[in-house]
Amino acid sequence: MKVTVYPPITNASGPHSVTYEELERIARSAAGAIVTKSMTHCPRQGNPEPRLRSHLDNEIGSLNSMGLPNLGYQEYAKFIPKLKDFGKPVIASIASAPCAHKLPPVEQYREIALAIEKAGADALELNLSCPNLEDVPISMDPQSVRAVLHAVTRAVKIPIGVKLSPYNNVPKLFEEIARTLLDFEIAYVATINSEPLTLDIDLQTRTKVVRPNEGFGGLGGPAVLPIALAEVHRFYKFFQKHKARIAVWGVGGITKPEDAIKHFLAGASVVQIGTLFLWEGPHVFEKLWTGIQRWLTENGFSSIEEIIGQVREA
Ligand code: SIN
Repeated sequence: MKVTVYPPITNASGPHSVTYEELERIARSAAGAIVTKSMTHCPRQGNPEPRLRSHLDNEIGSLNSMGLPNLGYQEYAKFIPKLKDFGKPVIASIASAPCAHKLPPVEQYREIALAIEKAGADALELNLSCPNLEDVPISMDPQSVRAVLHAVTRAVKIPIGVKLSPYNNVPKLFEEIARTLLDFEIAYVATINSEPLTLDIDLQTRTKVVRPNEGFGGLGGPAVLPIALAEVHRFYKFFQKHKARIAVWGVGGITKPEDAIKHFLAGASVVQIGTLFLWEGPHVFEKLWTGIQRWLTENGFSSIEEIIGQVREA
């Protein structure tokens, strides 16, 4: 099952996507879809402050350890019908997290998925890769990925995307996860979530830039572009080789139209914008889309489809 997004550019789940007002601003922008902040079974305050450094030195990116602050899935279920009035796909990002009721993660995903499908969401994006919780992300364990996909794909009929961690330096794990995905009806893989366990230091105060998890958090923005491109390309090639109809959505490091073009050439059919959207707000979708179209025209192409996966060997 396909999720049709046009223009093929959306927000990445996370920045400015927690409240109804924020989601409505995305709905009113040029973004091709509305992606919510990852919603959990219980509402969450998230990690202690400071938990976000939006601008690292030299604008190389952002570093966060937010810990999934969100309103809880029942609140988002109320927003979804209103958001659908804007006529673009509403993609609900869902995640599991520790909660007082101690519901196992697989059950959390299943229950949220059922409620959110009932609320009218057009697709689910299973966030298996939040790097800022106490537990190792589900995306790092093929058996856990399988268990979540097994439960959710049986529970709902709407298209399912999966948001994954970068696996760049663990090729065996990449292969195991990619093979696991082949066993399920998945619409798309969104890659990458932020580069986990990164650190930066404020030289003025000589402190780590975020407090939770001893200062280790997820890196996004320009610094991660080559990491994201590699992941997009590996998944694209893997799915081509196995004749799988799973799309790859590129996330990571896009701050100008040329960055998005690189994602498309690497194999992405949709791109998601995180750090730039955090920095500049909803006008970025129009700015990027205009630049992408200009690049296509100047280079003799009439559509994005003509360049997807068309990177040449050096
Ligand atoms: C967070 O809320 O910690 C960031 C979400 C994510 O990276 O999955």
